[in-house]
Amino acid sequence: MTGVARPEGSAGPVPGGAHPPVPPMPRFFEGHIRSAVGRRRGAVTTDIDSLIRRSGRLEVDDIDFGAFGRHPLDADTLRCLRYMHDVEGHTACYLRDVLATRAHRDPQVTAFLACWCYEEHWHGEALAQVLAAHGEPAGRSRLAASRRRLPRRDAFRPVAFTLASALTPHIVAVHMTWGAVNEWATQAGYGRLAAKARHPVLSELLRRIMRQEGRHIDFYALGARQRLADSATARRLTRFALRRYWAPVGAGVMPESELRFLVAHLFADGEGRAATQRIDRLVGRLPGLEGLHLAEAAVDRLACRPSTQTASPVERSMYQNRQEKEQRHAC
Ligand SMILES: [Fe+2]
Ligand SMILES: [Fe+2]
Repeated sequence: MTGVARPEGSAGPVPGGAHPPVPPMPRFFEGHIRSAVGRRRGAVTTDIDSLIRRSGRLEVDDIDFGAFGRHPLDADTLRCLRYMHDVEGHTACYLRDVLATRAHRDPQVTAFLACWCYEEHWHGEALAQVLAAHGEPAGRSRLAASRRRLPRRDAFRPVAFTLASALTPHIVAVHMTWGAVNEWATQAGYGRLAAKARHPVLSELLRRIMRQEGRHIDFYALGARQRLADSATARRLTRFALRRYWAPVGAGVMPESELRFLVAHLFADGEGRAATQRIDRLVGRLPGLEGLHLAEAAVDRLACRPSTQTASPVERSMYQNRQEKEQRHAC
């Protein structure tokens, strides 16, 4: 933390002004994730109203994007930022799928989703400015190209979501929980990127984005906790859906090679592993979701094993040898 007296990951205002000085080191991002699960139930509605009222466009007018011309980011950081830009820009498409479910019947959920989509749009725009400062394509032209590359099955997602929603009223619990996991992972990803890039302007920009992601976490985690606590069926269904289908944000939208690179770059080292363990602990505190270890399993799967599609024969053979060795040691 920066020494600022507020809770870890808090979405609330920073004491001492809206734009505190840039911290010398981005270590305060570590451990910047938090759960909203400990709140009093009586305060839930007020909290959600407050979250919605505080939503808004990301403030970047005082960010010195020209600094990237003088001190450019390294290639690995830019590669991660391209991924994050494209995924933030895909939010409206995720919203399309969610609104195809009975989530659209809940005015509190739709009020939040409207604000959520707006904020995520401006996260993408801010990242576009960083890419543009490096002479890279960004913004609408890049997003249009990304959407043209979507697989054909993407067109059927709203139908699948509508059908799932017709089969069970607990689809909203699944959505809330899924959203919480994704927001935790997103916030952790930004924190790890800031820590690795060590660029003060990027750190400040990501700090502001992370604060808004903290509000998204609060909403989704509160909604998830309420719904999971209320129904054993919701707990069973959500646990099954996460264990069977969850993958890091952007999977299925971004090329697998980019997903693997991002996961390996941000989460495969010691501090990255610690971040994934924090995500897993937060998920595990939701009712019925203990012991899933989604984030760590994803790192194992994506960062430590070559893809059968993308790995070279040498990589595949190395992986098989390593597995055989591990199995021998396990015996
Ligand atoms: Fe975002
Ligand atoms: Fe978010």
